[in-house]
Amino acid sequence: MSDVKPKFGLNPIEDVFEPPAPLLAGAHVSGLSSYQDMYRDSLANSETFWKRIAADLYFENASDRGLEWNFDVRKGDIFIRFMQGARTNVAYNCLERNIARGLGSKIAFFWEGNELGDERKITYQELLDQVTTLSAVLRAKGVKKGDRVAIYLPMIIELPVAMLACARIGAVHSVVFAGFSSESLASRIIDGKARVLITADGFCRGPKVFKLKQLADDAIKLCREQNEPVETCIVVKHLERVRIPSGADRPQVNYDDAVDVDYTEEMSRFAGAKSPVEWMDAEDYLFMLYTSGSTGKPKGVVHTQAGYMTYSYATAKFTFDLQDDDVYWCTADCGWITGHTYIVYGPLMNATTGIIFEGIPTHPDPGRCWNLVEKYKVTKMYTAPTLIRSLMAFKEEFVTKYDRSSLKILGSVGEPINPAAWLWYYKVVGESRCAIVDTYWQTETGGHIITPMPAATPTKPGSATLPFFGVEPVIVDAQGQEIEGPGEGNLCIKRPWPGIMRTVYGDADRFAKTYFASFPGYYFTGDGARRDEDGYLWVTGRVDDLMNVSGHLLSTAEIESALVAHHSVAEAAVVAAPHDIKGSTPYAFVSLKVGAKLTPALIDELKLMVRTKIGAIAVPDAIQYSPGLPKTRSGKITRRILRKIAEGDRKADLGDTTTLADESVIAQLWEGRNGGC
Ligand code: WT7
Repeated sequence: MSDVKPKFGLNPIEDVFEPPAPLLAGAHVSGLSSYQDMYRDSLANSETFWKRIAADLYFENASDRGLEWNFDVRKGDIFIRFMQGARTNVAYNCLERNIARGLGSKIAFFWEGNELGDERKITYQELLDQVTTLSAVLRAKGVKKGDRVAIYLPMIIELPVAMLACARIGAVHSVVFAGFSSESLASRIIDGKARVLITADGFCRGPKVFKLKQLADDAIKLCREQNEPVETCIVVKHLERVRIPSGADRPQVNYDDAVDVDYTEEMSRFAGAKSPVEWMDAEDYLFMLYTSGSTGKPKGVVHTQAGYMTYSYATAKFTFDLQDDDVYWCTADCGWITGHTYIVYGPLMNATTGIIFEGIPTHPDPGRCWNLVEKYKVTKMYTAPTLIRSLMAFKEEFVTKYDRSSLKILGSVGEPINPAAWLWYYKVVGESRCAIVDTYWQTETGGHIITPMPAATPTKPGSATLPFFGVEPVIVDAQGQEIEGPGEGNLCIKRPWPGIMRTVYGDADRFAKTYFASFPGYYFTGDGARRDEDGYLWVTGRVDDLMNVSGHLLSTAEIESALVAHHSVAEAAVVAAPHDIKGSTPYAFVSLKVGAKLTPALIDELKLMVRTKIGAIAVPDAIQYSPGLPKTRSGKITRRILRKIAEGDRKADLGDTTTLADESVIAQLWEGRNGGC
């Protein structure tokens, strides 16, 4: 590490951070050379490496096979298999396997509500009992192995219970983030042909109460219209048991006896029911989870049993160096992959005590997170740069007035972490004595693929550092040639690891095209990356038409089609504009139909359009009128120009504009920006 150059104007002394010495003793991977030895072994002896890890888990039937794959579209269909022939059950591995080791009375989750004082906890045995009962309920509703079940729940204990109940009986869960709109929910239910939906009356976040059931009802109506009826909707009456934020009302909720059933009533009807574990083939589907696609239509990313199980177990264990006495808090929502892998499956497989938090970091004040750290004596915390940036804006006292001495490891995920946020996390939150793990991965990768090991890897603020075991990242140029040594290009992976996605639900063709067509022979992440002199990887961000808002991917095409669905809009183009807290935010240019004017009222309608079609997260911060959009003579919108305008960088080089059909559009757009929006 001697010839590291200072980056981002950091003091050179601060450029490389060694793993905190107290973490080294007893760590699963201690010291850089152990990581390097294990990493080399994971590539050279992949099969024995993964078998050794899988040996910690329970398999009903063994397998003598390891990873098998084809990554090359020219050689035939893309496929990935792991431990073909093995049979297992992921929920069994999270629950019964740990209980059999004497951990039944260990806390699986602490639940912390939105309002101070609202709390619950659940042990591994209690979790198993609830999961078994709910799985009996699902069976009674006709759910069989392979059937899809949609889950639209807030951050309450019933969310992992529902996921695990599906896993127990081999049903494929499709969790839809509770911040998504009814239309998003409906399109996901329809795409997966789910007949059962599990939801709640509502939930609280900060000062607000959200009427989730109403959105679920709207979605059920849309599904019926599309001839994909939801037959049963299981409703958790959550709002009835919690405190409501002051000033908010407990909403009226409607129930329809034809579809709705009460979660609690069903659970008491089936309490004590035997509902045996379904043994699943290694490559049977475990779950699907939608992620944005460049073309606008979200993709149902499919994960399977043995591979996802082994990989989520291994990455949780090594990246967070999980130990028996940890209290681990991941601030993500189970509606995203981070919640799947690092709230539910990975931690439970490691018999960890976790925290589920319904609220937001600034309610009742911006010290809430550190209040939680003190209250539960959190040892490992996992959050996103956007949360860090939003809390950095407040007085440090909100952090420092709470005892954070329990903290050991601080994780980051979702987007490249800017060094200022990294350093604040390290110094202010972690008192300069915790390891920071900046974990790079995707919905598609199932678990971390580039990440430091907390007791092994020296870190550099802003770099996700080195690959996880079994992952072989390469940087390729535009021609698909690998760039050796330092350099920058497209981030690809050369071979599979057990947790990689297996297909896009119902669309193997799209799977092959999206991830394997750009650079034949490689899995293409869609991100750009740079490798430095030390072999460290610096992910630079998406190189496709997806944008990252607060750590979540959004498709510009999807937002554009929501905008053009409004009768006044002729055409729309959406680009990512930089944002201090969210990282980036959608910025929309709209041209209107004759007679329409972009009044504040129309702007509100357009924002509402995006909110109802996709969800609040996709609503553009700015909507600018554009008399025309800059296009090439062949009609292609030149987004690079719009990006510069959205960035407000008047001095920026717009590149060659002579190929535009009408160059005068640019001046008009600058003028429109001046006018504000
Ligand atoms: C995209 C995946 C994986 C869980 C959350 C997001 C970006 C994610 C990092 C990181 C730089 C990151 C990438 C990636 N990303 N983590 N540590 N450093 N970029 O899951 O919605 O599937 O998004 O998030 O652009 O491709 P996702």
